[in-house]
Amino acid sequence: MTGLIKIIFGSRNDREVKRLKPFVSQINEFESGLQKLSDDELRAKTAAWKATLAKIEDKEELAQKLNEILPEAFAVVKNACRRLCGQEITVRGLPIKWEMIPFDVQLIGGIAQHQGKITEMATGEGKTLVATLPVYLNALTGRGVHVVTVNDYLAARDSEWMGAIYKFLGLTVGVILHDQSPRVRREQYACDITYGTNAEFGFDYLRDNGMATRKEEQVQRGHYFAIVDEVDSILIDEARTPLIISGPSMHTHDEQFAQWKPLVESLVRAQQQLCNRFLAEAEALIKKLRPEDGSNVQNASALEHEIGLLLFRVKTGQPKSEGLMKILENPENAQLMNRAELDLHKDQKKVDLYREKEELLFAMDEKSQEADLTEKGRSFVSPKDPEAFVLPDLTTQLHDVDAGAETDARKRLEAKTRLQADFEAKAQKIHAISQLLKAYSLYQLDVEYVIQENKVIIVDQHTGRLMPGRRWSDGLHQAVEAKEGVAIERETQTLATITIQNYFRLYQKLAGMTGTAETEATEFLDIYKLGVVTIPTNKPNIRKDSHDSIYKTRREKFNAVVAEIKELHAKGRPILVGTVSVETSEMLSRMLKREGLIHSVLNAKYHQQEAEIVARAGQRGAVTIATNMAGRGTDIKLGPGVADVGGLHVLGTERHEARRIDRQLRGRCSRQGDPGSSHFFISREDDLRRLFGADRIVKKTEKNGVAEGGELKHPWLNRSIQSAQKKVEQHNFQIRKRTLEYDDVMNKHRQVIYDFRNEIINGEDVRDRLMDIMEEVVVEKVLEFTNTDTEHGEWKLRQLADWVNLNFPLGIPEVEILKTAEAGKDEPVAGSLFDGLSPAQFAVVNFISEKVRNAYEIKISFENPDALKEVERFTILSAIDRLWQEHLYEMDSLRYSIGLRGYGQRDPLVEYKAEAFKMFDELMVNVKTQICNNIFRSASSMSAFENFLRNVPQQTLHQAVSAFGGGDVVSEAAAAQEARARAKPVRTGPKVGRNDPCPCGSGKKYKQCCGR
Ligand SMILES: Nc1ncnc2c1ncn2[C@@H]1O[C@H](COP(=O)(O)OP(=O)(O)OP(=O)(O)O)[C@@H](O)[C@H]1O
Ligand SMILES: [Mg+2]
Repeated sequence: MTGLIKIIFGSRNDREVKRLKPFVSQINEFESGLQKLSDDELRAKTAAWKATLAKIEDKEELAQKLNEILPEAFAVVKNACRRLCGQEITVRGLPIKWEMIPFDVQLIGGIAQHQGKITEMATGEGKTLVATLPVYLNALTGRGVHVVTVNDYLAARDSEWMGAIYKFLGLTVGVILHDQSPRVRREQYACDITYGTNAEFGFDYLRDNGMATRKEEQVQRGHYFAIVDEVDSILIDEARTPLIISGPSMHTHDEQFAQWKPLVESLVRAQQQLCNRFLAEAEALIKKLRPEDGSNVQNASALEHEIGLLLFRVKTGQPKSEGLMKILENPENAQLMNRAELDLHKDQKKVDLYREKEELLFAMDEKSQEADLTEKGRSFVSPKDPEAFVLPDLTTQLHDVDAGAETDARKRLEAKTRLQADFEAKAQKIHAISQLLKAYSLYQLDVEYVIQENKVIIVDQHTGRLMPGRRWSDGLHQAVEAKEGVAIERETQTLATITIQNYFRLYQKLAGMTGTAETEATEFLDIYKLGVVTIPTNKPNIRKDSHDSIYKTRREKFNAVVAEIKELHAKGRPILVGTVSVETSEMLSRMLKREGLIHSVLNAKYHQQEAEIVARAGQRGAVTIATNMAGRGTDIKLGPGVADVGGLHVLGTERHEARRIDRQLRGRCSRQGDPGSSHFFISREDDLRRLFGADRIVKKTEKNGVAEGGELKHPWLNRSIQSAQKKVEQHNFQIRKRTLEYDDVMNKHRQVIYDFRNEIINGEDVRDRLMDIMEEVVVEKVLEFTNTDTEHGEWKLRQLADWVNLNFPLGIPEVEILKTAEAGKDEPVAGSLFDGLSPAQFAVVNFISEKVRNAYEIKISFENPDALKEVERFTILSAIDRLWQEHLYEMDSLRYSIGLRGYGQRDPLVEYKAEAFKMFDELMVNVKTQICNNIFRSASSMSAFENFLRNVPQQTLHQAVSAFGGGDVVSEAAAAQEARARAKPVRTGPKVGRNDPCPCGSGKKYKQCCGR
């Protein structure tokens, strides 16, 4: 940011803060008045406001009223804090003495949050407490306020810690934790205030709307207001992966990976040899280029180009090659390589680039993470038929069949089907090999993943955390499993999914807080419509930030890191060392052990332990190695005497992709006016510099001569790193935005489907809806088989009759339909479902639906009414769910194939939208047709439903199945009887309301079950 913009930006922020200041004096005035009240009188405020606000329905009016009472409500919270002072509160099993009364800056932060903004407040400024102000105010509406934290530990901690205030004031507070049952969750959501992680909130939404089959199974009660703590971590970092609930897939090709593994291994080996040869050649040429005797070299530029090409080839063929890294340690060599690459890209047609790649067996692109077999590679894997690994042009092939000599339509169709199957098989094969190549060439054990208990576990590259349960998509995970020889797990199918962005957009009002939001302000505004307000610190910040120290190699860098740790440790200062990966932290730990330095390493497995280690990091002489961001939200208090020796020192061992994460690390020290300092160490071998480095500048500084092990210093260097970070940040923002644009399409589909489901789940008159759907489908079908321009006799009445008779047990002969059509006189009512039908068509529709209704009346007469109601609901839900899940899968494939297809000038997103629209249209028609198909087939709809149930978490699975019995084809009446027989009416508990769920667990209302 340039100075000028900073001034403008800064002053705008200052104005914003200034505007909020008058509120502060109001609040404080109210608060001194409140000091006279008794505890009960103070508490009574809550009840009074709640009663008033409960009567207001209108959103605007409600917001207005909240603004009105804000000063007094905030004062009530502040006053409650005052009264709590000195009290002991148990938080996560440990006693904490309450000693907080909100500072003025905290009041300002709270107002900004109430206004739906993100407050940026430095570490240790007490954001946890800040949130209680807007939370209390908004919870008075009774509509439920959610506070979102980064992990379960913090959710539990904050709900207990801050719960002291809420409870004191007469509000209820709950917390959602990973292992809670739906019943417990519902109770937590019923509280005025609910703490929890973004994942738990999001999954509950998905389960409620995408999977629950009864209203009683739903746990959330709306999305009124959420405050997101560590908002950058959640809305930006976590938002890169959507929330997914999945079950076993029906479309699986896992065997492919094991099948192709030996072949890919030999490919990778051959490529390694090839690359070693290139490296050897390059080394020989480098010797020629820079002879030891310093003599002059002829043809230097040709030599340089040749070397550059060889190095580039290795980078493309074996990006993680150690030999290459070593050669590139010399920046001159790196420059040769970059220049050669640049030259190759200059040519529009990329002829040379293509030729270079053809020197290899396969080509990797580290930035886009793609892997492709070259022609050489294809001949290597399939010498007899290299075409076996080329995708055919399906459209032309299909067209050729039609244009060919075959006249028999059936044979033509068979031929086409064969071609399609062939295409599918090849595409799968190519895909599996490409994923395996990636697994071998780009994914390294103990860097991108670790193996634990025979499982491949992803290491989050940003936080260094292990992410058990998460899997790379699209077969990559299985490819890595095949590579490591561990069990290949089944590909799973998505049952329900939503992006974090779209989940949080559900809230009527959203706010956030963090120590670092400013660098991502554009994204917050763009995507979440959230403004950022930077709140000044309570006491001035006196942290000393050093310039970065830059080294040529990682080795030199870490030696310097260890030296600095030793030096400061000797002075008694605590040191917090940040690393970007688990691997680095372990390596550094080994180095420190060798030096005999006692230290702790954060093994980010248990948040509570993690928090305890971080909390101790401020003690005299403590050395703590933490992967970046680990322990967010945990306060590092300085131990006795530490402030006198300079406070906590933060040492960064690498620059992160995002400046924000570096700021977060820096911010761990110098809280609340404490002394402290920070210092980052980087080397030219760090990833950030390798990918986007500014080698020109490095070279320039190096020309000035640096001793081995010495530091490079130049003001430009710091700037070049910053700009590299900015580039990556922008790149990542673009990716996230793009992902979101794609997801927006799906989001609309999801809304329609979820609304449809909810209508059924909540609806009393599902049967009417069922009959409506039937009628809609009949209209569709009649339109499909009849045509107003032709004689009734020419209508495809045979097909219509077939369809009707296939779906409904009617047996209507086509002549009857014809007679009906000819007798048709009435015009349908304008604007009704039948609008646009001719009298003949209208008559046919009426005739058929009338027959269906009559048949259904007969069915009703001999079925158990309650059981039938259940079946009706499931008939609809199971059709929606099965086809929706297929739709998710198809949309995924669509996205993938759109990515593969070249579109010339056209935007793939536009193509995607157009096709997605068509697919959704088909989905809705298919759902309705499927429902029709199942109306009279309770048996088949039940097995479909059971299929669906298999994918649902245990708790609901158990309940729903027991209501229906486990047999293949069970009449619903018998099933209901059985369920009643099994139900034991136990009446020891509290009295059950007639409309409550029956305690026997049948899932029915009490009055319809044991309460009869
Ligand atoms: N008004 C206050 N008076 C006294 N102490 C306070 C006050 N507000 C907060 N604190 C203390 O400051 C410390 C840090 O609070 P907290 O963890 O909420 O900070 P934070 O802003 O959330 O930091 P981080 O960015 O690490 O999450 C806590 O020990 C808390 O007790
Ligand atoms: Mg915090």
